[in-house]
Amino acid sequence: MIGVFDSGLGGLSVLRTLREALPYESFIYLGDGARCPYGERSTEEVKRFTEEAVERLLAEGCKLIVIACNTATAVAIRALRERYPDVPFVGLEPAVKPAALTTKSGVVGVLATRRSLEGDHFRTTAAQYADKVQIIAAVGEGFVEAVECNEEESEATEALVRRVVEPLVEAGADKIVLGCTHYPFLRSVIERVAGEGVEIIDSAAAIARRVASLLDERGLRAEEGAKQSCRYLSFAGEEYVEKLKMKDR
Ligand code: DGL
Repeated sequence: MIGVFDSGLGGLSVLRTLREALPYESFIYLGDGARCPYGERSTEEVKRFTEEAVERLLAEGCKLIVIACNTATAVAIRALRERYPDVPFVGLEPAVKPAALTTKSGVVGVLATRRSLEGDHFRTTAAQYADKVQIIAAVGEGFVEAVECNEEESEATEALVRRVVEPLVEAGADKIVLGCTHYPFLRSVIERVAGEGVEIIDSAAAIARRVASLLDERGLRAEEGAKQSCRYLSFAGEEYVEKLKMKDR
């Protein structure tokens, strides 16, 4: 069983890719739901919630855990690896590198939560490319809430996206990195607002490749032909579990 954790519904965007890429693996998805969004919370809170989630997934017998939340990864993954040295963890980070290496305009937009953008990892990665590429980071204000409320297609959401994405395009960005797992649910509106010539990049495919290679490295792959199953858990009760299932259809 592979555990996949996010503050809420966002990590389902990663789960979908994992399930396709690893058809014989089974999954438990834990979406906190009770304390989402994490993006504006303190480091201590996000760390504590992530540890609670990991304990729960380990109690369920997970052999590998994907922290399908950029915010939780930025804040907690180092501590988790120290605390559970035998557990393979895969974390989500904004895909700055592929965007920086392929931009033609030399301008890359990165959308993420405030907590992620303040993290050491993002700052170090951005600094690595800063002499060649201009990286413009922006918080997707209200994006997570819109996804949690299934409001992806509303006019109000489009207005939120315009406010954040238009300045990136005006500044010349030809790559926009989705550095929060909720944001791929807004991909079509982001694409519409950004217009042709702007590539939207998320991390899901790279994460699936990383999970596959870790499973191989540790000899943890499920047997070929095994039937895939997927369970959903939440700290927010049964109603939220139903919401997770609906969103994952
Ligand atoms: N989906 C999460 C991320 O990737 C967190 C969103 C939130 O809870 O603020 O950052």
